[in-house]
Amino acid sequence: MEKTFLMVKPDGVQRGLVGEIVKRFEQKGFQLIGSKLTVITREQAEIHYAEHKGKDFFERLVNFITSGPVFAMVWHGDQVITLSRTMIGKTNSLEAAPGTIRGDYAVHTNLNLIHGSDSPESAEREINNFFQPSEIHMYTKNI
Ligand code: CMP
Repeated sequence: MEKTFLMVKPDGVQRGLVGEIVKRFEQKGFQLIGSKLTVITREQAEIHYAEHKGKDFFERLVNFITSGPVFAMVWHGDQVITLSRTMIGKTNSLEAAPGTIRGDYAVHTNLNLIHGSDSPESAEREINNFFQPSEIHMYTKNI
């Protein structure tokens, strides 16, 4: 079992897509173990997108991700890191397949609705950047 960090970006929150996105991951069988609507700080955004520092879109990306509330989530499940990336679709919205979140709802790469961790190492770093351990709740299904 793995944990991953998923974040509905400001465009997804403003378009009212939080429920639709959460529904897809719940119906796949993954478990939501942490979530919050929050406006992230510039410092958190720069840590989150550190690998893109120096690229021409970095400043625009940090400005955008801090421009309004995001819906940050921690999900738990078997192969959740790889499978959630498949469900999200390609970064470039022009290449995102129908049936994926970006393929169904995104038009622009800059407004691509959702972020998902791309590896176990990224997931751990990103979860720690946005959540305190006390905000994550593991539970078993007993009803
Ligand atoms: P995300 O999965 O959050 O990771 C980095 C983000 O940078 C990406 O989604 C896009 O929203 C954004 N971005 C903007 N331009 C580019 C680009 N040319 N290549 C990759 N990512 C880009």
